Amino acid sequence: MADSQHDHCDWNSPTWWRQAVVYQIYPRSFADSNGDGLGDLGGIISRVPYLVELGVDAVWLSPFYPSALADGGYDVDDYRDVDPRIGTMDDFDAMATVLHEAGIKLFVDIVPNHSSNRHIWFQAALNAAPGSPERDRYIFRRGIGANHALPPSDWRAAFGGSTWEPVGDGWFYFHLFAPEQPDWNWRNDEVRQDFLTTLRFWSDHGVDGFRVDVAMALAKGFGTDFPDELPSREQMEAVPIGPDHMVYDRDEVDEIYAGWREVFNEYDPPRVAVAELWTEPSSRKARYATDRSLGQAFYFDIINAGFNALKIRAVVDEVLGWADQSGSSSTWVLSNHDQVRHASRFGLPDADSDDIWANPERDRQWLLSRGTAPVEDLARGARRARAASVFAMGLPGSLYLYQGEELGLREVADLPDSARQDPIFFRSPGRHVGRDGCRVPLPWTSDGPSFGFGTGPAHLPQPAWFADFAVSVEEEDPDSTLHLYREALRRRRELQGPEVLTWIDHLDAPEVLHFERPGGWQVVMNAGAEPCPWEKLGLSARPSLERILASGRLTEEALPGETTVWLLARATATLG
Ligand code: GLC
Repeated sequence: MADSQHDHCDWNSPTWWRQAVVYQIYPRSFADSNGDGLGDLGGIISRVPYLVELGVDAVWLSPFYPSALADGGYDVDDYRDVDPRIGTMDDFDAMATVLHEAGIKLFVDIVPNHSSNRHIWFQAALNAAPGSPERDRYIFRRGIGANHALPPSDWRAAFGGSTWEPVGDGWFYFHLFAPEQPDWNWRNDEVRQDFLTTLRFWSDHGVDGFRVDVAMALAKGFGTDFPDELPSREQMEAVPIGPDHMVYDRDEVDEIYAGWREVFNEYDPPRVAVAELWTEPSSRKARYATDRSLGQAFYFDIINAGFNALKIRAVVDEVLGWADQSGSSSTWVLSNHDQVRHASRFGLPDADSDDIWANPERDRQWLLSRGTAPVEDLARGARRARAASVFAMGLPGSLYLYQGEELGLREVADLPDSARQDPIFFRSPGRHVGRDGCRVPLPWTSDGPSFGFGTGPAHLPQPAWFADFAVSVEEEDPDSTLHLYREALRRRRELQGPEVLTWIDHLDAPEVLHFERPGGWQVVMNAGAEPCPWEKLGLSARPSLERILASGRLTEEALPGETTVWLLARATATLG
């Protein structure tokens, strides 16, 4: 399909994704078409016109597979079906068709590190004897101590508690996340083949790309057959992530993804995938993004740079370097379903690091919900979020947006404990409120039982202030974040050129980031709190540069604090 919206990203080219804007839909919280409180595929279909107007190139759907929702759907019962509460395979096909007809590509989430404990192969493993082929598809080990009653090691799971769950016969299975998420044994050929079948299945159903969950953990350094005693938690954590680590980023993952690449290349255009990488040492990130592997990787480093000009610039340079090294494009993400929404993050006094995975003791959702300091500065958060988004939209490479950020939605930090769903809350226990606050269903209208999300109450309660962020309200307000995103994405399409930038330094204004893209497009962000005179930036007497878009109100004298502006060399100037 080629239409004016997609000329810039070359819809049929094998590299259509390089500078695509991908909008993440968390299906259970996007739009509910049947009033059961859970979002569904019918809801997505009904909102395709909204996506078109927003101007995205692709959507990525978080898991919509059958699941008991022990981890928001990242506990998959069946990789090749749709949760009946969300729809049917026919609905999926209809959605893919409607999206494609609207010029929007489709990514789905693939969860290859673990299945759910309700997957038929895990049920078969539980019913089979130790050492059986059924058990070999997962990672079982015999307990230690008297009667094999103790777990094989003292390792801790990512959501809290032990990584080992007993099955009652002296054996334990390994789970990196919740006990309902047993890890696959990727040394097992049946497991490998089954995932290839799944990739083909969705590709045949019109899927253009895959987001690969926990991409770096598939190849474990131990298994059922690992003969030695396992190292202690302390010993394991002392090993740097990489080839010798027991869980993360071993070299064997390369071979798994090389196999996936062969499947991707069976299609025209080839399917693409983006790796979710968390604690990766930088030098090894690029491997996942090459065209021998998944094709693209998430670089979440910008999330940890806070609103600090020096840190942001360093991250941008680093990410562009990794993109170069891999031959792929860079990726930019400010929010997703695992993060405190950036409009809230930027309103916190010390938003420099908000990695809830790496710094659980600094879990800001926990701090917020308990009403302890720090307190969120709402206006500052909103201002900075708009500035950061407009800055990110100007960067070369692809951009991943998370549903609701285009409305400037904040985190719902005060959900009642009784409403919480995230296993992080249950397994910490209660110490970390987890990620539900960014997963509250979207407000489409300012009234109704769930602000237009559905016809009944939503599965996570929406606060009264959601009314102010409703799509219908923002549509009426020319200064709304929704209008800003629409306009910025429209301009971005027009202006997008080669994937490079040149920094313009302002040594006496270190809080200002300024770069130029080919074609005379300039992006200037003032990350400081104080206005910066245009003169100081050499931008006052420059009629040749038109101010085409700004995240906040500009003045004649200065670029206000926490504001980003886009400038464009006027045609006359270019000609003259
Ligand atoms: C990824 C997902 C997260 C999920 C975890 C386990 O990090 O983004 O939501 O809980 O994997 O599947």
